[in-house]
Amino acid sequence: MRFAPSAFVAIAPISLGLSLGLAACSTADTPAETTVSPILTTEDAKDTSTYARPEIARVTHVALDLALDFDARDVFGTATLDIMAAEGADEIVLDSDGLRISGISDANGAALDFTIGEHDEKLGEPVTVAIGDARRITVTYRAAPDAEALQWLDPEQTAGGKQPFLFSQGQAILNRSWIPTQDSPGIRQTWEARITAPKPLTVVMSGLKGGEPEELEDGRRVFGFTMDKPVPPYLIALAAGDIAFRELGPRTGVWAEPVMLDRAANELVDTEAMVTAAEKLYGPYRWGRYDMIVLPPAFPYGGMENPVMTFLTPTFIAGDRSLTGLVAHELAHSWSGNLVTNSNWRDSWLNEGVTSYFEGRITEEIYGKERAAQEAALSFATVENVLAEVGMDDPGTALHQPDGVESAGSEIVYDKGAAFLRTVEHIAGRDRFDAWLRQWFDNHAFQPATSKMMLEDMEKNLVAGDAELGARLKLREWIFEPGLPDNVLRPDADAFASVDKAAAEYAATRTPDAAAWQGWNTAERLRFLSTLPASLPKEQLAALDRAFGLSDSGNNEVLFAWLKTALSNRYEPAVPVAESFLASVGRTKFVRPLFAVLMEQDEWGESIARRIYGKTRSSYHAVTRGSVDAVVMPKR
Ligand code: BES
Ligand code: ZN
Repeated sequence: MRFAPSAFVAIAPISLGLSLGLAACSTADTPAETTVSPILTTEDAKDTSTYARPEIARVTHVALDLALDFDARDVFGTATLDIMAAEGADEIVLDSDGLRISGISDANGAALDFTIGEHDEKLGEPVTVAIGDARRITVTYRAAPDAEALQWLDPEQTAGGKQPFLFSQGQAILNRSWIPTQDSPGIRQTWEARITAPKPLTVVMSGLKGGEPEELEDGRRVFGFTMDKPVPPYLIALAAGDIAFRELGPRTGVWAEPVMLDRAANELVDTEAMVTAAEKLYGPYRWGRYDMIVLPPAFPYGGMENPVMTFLTPTFIAGDRSLTGLVAHELAHSWSGNLVTNSNWRDSWLNEGVTSYFEGRITEEIYGKERAAQEAALSFATVENVLAEVGMDDPGTALHQPDGVESAGSEIVYDKGAAFLRTVEHIAGRDRFDAWLRQWFDNHAFQPATSKMMLEDMEKNLVAGDAELGARLKLREWIFEPGLPDNVLRPDADAFASVDKAAAEYAATRTPDAAAWQGWNTAERLRFLSTLPASLPKEQLAALDRAFGLSDSGNNEVLFAWLKTALSNRYEPAVPVAESFLASVGRTKFVRPLFAVLMEQDEWGESIARRIYGKTRSSYHAVTRGSVDAVVMPKR
């Protein structure tokens, strides 16, 4: 495999704080089309989660050559980094979190000095390399033992049960535990990789496949990948297991364990249409293929938008495509997040909020206005709940999180973010709004962005001198202030009219209406469950379970909602159901709240939580473990 050229040409100047020293340099042997993404040097763009100092020296390309050892649970090899440095710069700072570096050399193989700084529990440690005038360096290393980005699964944790499995999860700052580079969303890098794995395992990555795997004499195979578009390094991802591929459309397909493939492909039949719909909305899909991998249930998230290879939990498979908003969401990140990226994690609403809005638009195109309106109403209800809980003036309820302020939760970043854009769309008009959002993606493609830039861009290109419109939008308040501006577009009151009526009847009569439940879609069922009276006696819970078949639901969102209600009422028959759910599923969104509900139930629930967690903890990803530890084993 060839390395991409290390050189670059000057980028077209864009308006905001580009590091001119870096942007201006170029070398002679550079292909004309090779550009390096700009970095932002303004205060609002600064990433406090990296040790890198990209304005001095930055990585522009990463070439990995790594071997996977499933017995030792080890990843090792080399990372060759291309560097662009300001004049006179003679060192570069990389991020690491426990990497075992045995040496760093220049392109001639000469050893370079490096120092490893003090370890910080959150950020890891800086690796400062004395590069002199070297502009390509090779780091020889092993991943951190227990690298947080990596989860190694025993065969028993897979559907097939015979082969081990490995996957990585980079967002937000976990990739520094297996890749020595500048791990910041504001520093984009192209990359390539050669990954050696034992047969019969297949490796996939978040880059385009470089031909057929090469067979080694020792029975291993080498898989090659390239990503020629600059991406923030949290988007470098890998999975390896006994997996097979099924085509879904001309540029879409799905990987899964062979025994999962039929169910996965059936659930994902709408994917190609989603890509087409997304393009029609906001411009070309620029990444080539859109493939997905359905991972084992230990995957800690619903989905992860790794470019050209979305990672998915299998728990979205309901048999009726009712939870495929997840796919629309990860696909939408191909614009919001992967194309235009938050420069630092305090602006993650730029990734997640914009994506949640975009997801709703794809849902509307593929499944119709009614489902989209219902999903928007469910989403908005979560914002109202959080605001009621923490208060309208809690600084963590602002979309942009000032440094040192913790977000009040994903409901703010995702759901308030989406509500903001639905409000803007409503006030400005769909055509005008869509034209604005499309140009935002086009004009910031492959670049980092901040809240401040978004606000300025909206003022310039959406408000565009229309003072009356500007006053009605309240953009600054939406982005920078806590609470909910009074111009918010509330969800369609009719979205759940019949369900809400049934819920009121149920609250009065306590008689479940099985026929009504049968007629409802998943969003309606979730709405019904969310409006149940908080306190329900045992007999009424049993009647609900019997009438709706809740404990046997094949829909994991419905099952989760039911288990929350049942456990919060100390309903004993739900305990074994919860136990088997928690033993098989590692998705943090499901696992943490169920443990949290149990822990709120005094001795009854605490002992159940501790007993179950004692058995399941080791099967969870570090992310899930960390978040459940905080609930079940709080540090005093
Ligand atoms: N990018 C996120 C997952 C993520 C967020 C990983 C923050 C690490 C830190 C992904 O796109 C996502 O939002 N997943 C959701 C999907 C849902 C909102 C449809 C999930 O995992 O539940
Ligand atoms: Zn997302």
